Amino acid sequence: MPEPARVRGMFGSIARRYDLMNTLMTGGMHHRWRRLGLEAARLKPGDAALDVCCGTGDFSFLLFEAVGPLGSVTGVDFSRRMLEVAREKARRRGRPVDFRWGDATSLGFSDGTFDAVTVGFGVRNIPDIGRAFAEMARVVRPGGRVVCLEITRPSQKPFEQFYGIWFDRLVPALGRVISRDGSAYSYLPSSVRRFPPAPELADIMRAAGLADVSYRLLAGSIIAIHWGSVPE
Ligand SMILES: C[S@@+](CC[C@H](N)C(=O)[O-])C[C@H]1O[C@@H](n2cnc3c(N)ncnc32)[C@H](O)[C@@H]1O
Repeated sequence: MPEPARVRGMFGSIARRYDLMNTLMTGGMHHRWRRLGLEAARLKPGDAALDVCCGTGDFSFLLFEAVGPLGSVTGVDFSRRMLEVAREKARRRGRPVDFRWGDATSLGFSDGTFDAVTVGFGVRNIPDIGRAFAEMARVVRPGGRVVCLEITRPSQKPFEQFYGIWFDRLVPALGRVISRDGSAYSYLPSSVRRFPPAPELADIMRAAGLADVSYRLLAGSIIAIHWGSVPE
């Protein structure tokens, strides 16, 4: 697992190309996956939502669609360059999302501040996943949800082969061309390989204090959406 400072440096170096790479790597499907993650958060107009590891803000902007102008959305990330891009997008789109610097394992909010917390393609980069989930659970009110959207490894044969070619070879090659820094996109497959499979991730969430933990797999089981509630 690379040091957090290295992970931050990697995301900083690809911040300006991150959205384009996401679209090329997933054929635009990443928007739909985040939308399904949003559904799992069960947010209502007027709610307060937090998006951890918000990056360039795409998940945060979706949360804003659900909570509306009477609600609030905060996005937290530890890469200032990613936050810069998110803030520029917020200005262009007229979306009053509060993008702030912060670390997922030590969130600067009081207990029970939010109705829901999301994390999209973020926990894979965090060495202590259990601590990150405990922290997300802490800042959600009782009854509120924590939702995690992440890349996972398929176990079925045809998908596994396709995945090996696409993810281990094509994505790093595309990353070298588009972002001019191959390291972030060769890091991607190794970070997914290290990441716990869906049932194990659900256990980590339970151990972090979340109840009613469940998950669904998408796109031939390469994407997992997990959710759990903070006990009442
Ligand atoms: C792959 S991007 C995901 C961005 C966004 N959530 C999305 O759906 O596209 C991962 C982000 O997590 C951030 N990150 C990784 N570890 C973090 C940590 N410990 N605390 C805060 N942000 C972190 C990185 O800076 C990066 O912006």
